Amino acid sequence: MVKPDGVQRGMVGEIISRIEQRGLKIVGLKAVWVDDKTAMEHYKEHANKPFFSDLVNYIKSGPSIPMVIEGRDAITILRKMVGATNPEEAQVGTIRGDFCIDVGRNIVHASDSPESAKMEISIYFDESELMDYTRIDEKWVFE
Ligand code: RTP
Ligand code: MG
Repeated sequence: MVKPDGVQRGMVGEIISRIEQRGLKIVGLKAVWVDDKTAMEHYKEHANKPFFSDLVNYIKSGPSIPMVIEGRDAITILRKMVGATNPEEAQVGTIRGDFCIDVGRNIVHASDSPESAKMEISIYFDESELMDYTRIDEKWVFE
């Protein structure tokens, strides 16, 4: 998901480009302005953390772009592309390492396990909004 700061800073195209160029497949994409209930649901694992209310306010602060990304080891690959939670610790070459500085403005979210991906996809997408298709370059990305 491109978070509200990523949208406001015009980073949507850059982030989508990196995902596409890596060879991962976009199977769902939309724009949402996250409401309070959705924000709490998305970040419920952090409900007891001191930064929870700031995090909820951050994700509600403007439009976001949730996406469903598919591909071999997509979660691991995408988390590596996103970089460390705190952008100051994120490697140069990662999305956070290249485009942001503050942990509270780290421009993207990425699911960290198949279970969280399943849960998060169900928050933002109906099954009918997900596309089943083959990318024309798949035989050139995979042996
Ligand atoms: P995300 O869930 O957004 O992909 O990020 P993540 O897995 O790398 O990090 P996570 O621990 O799940 O934290 C979720 C988001 O909460 C904000 N955060 N603020 N102030 C703080 O110490 C702090 N720690 C985390 C970040 O926006 C982080 O992405
Ligand atoms: Mg997380």
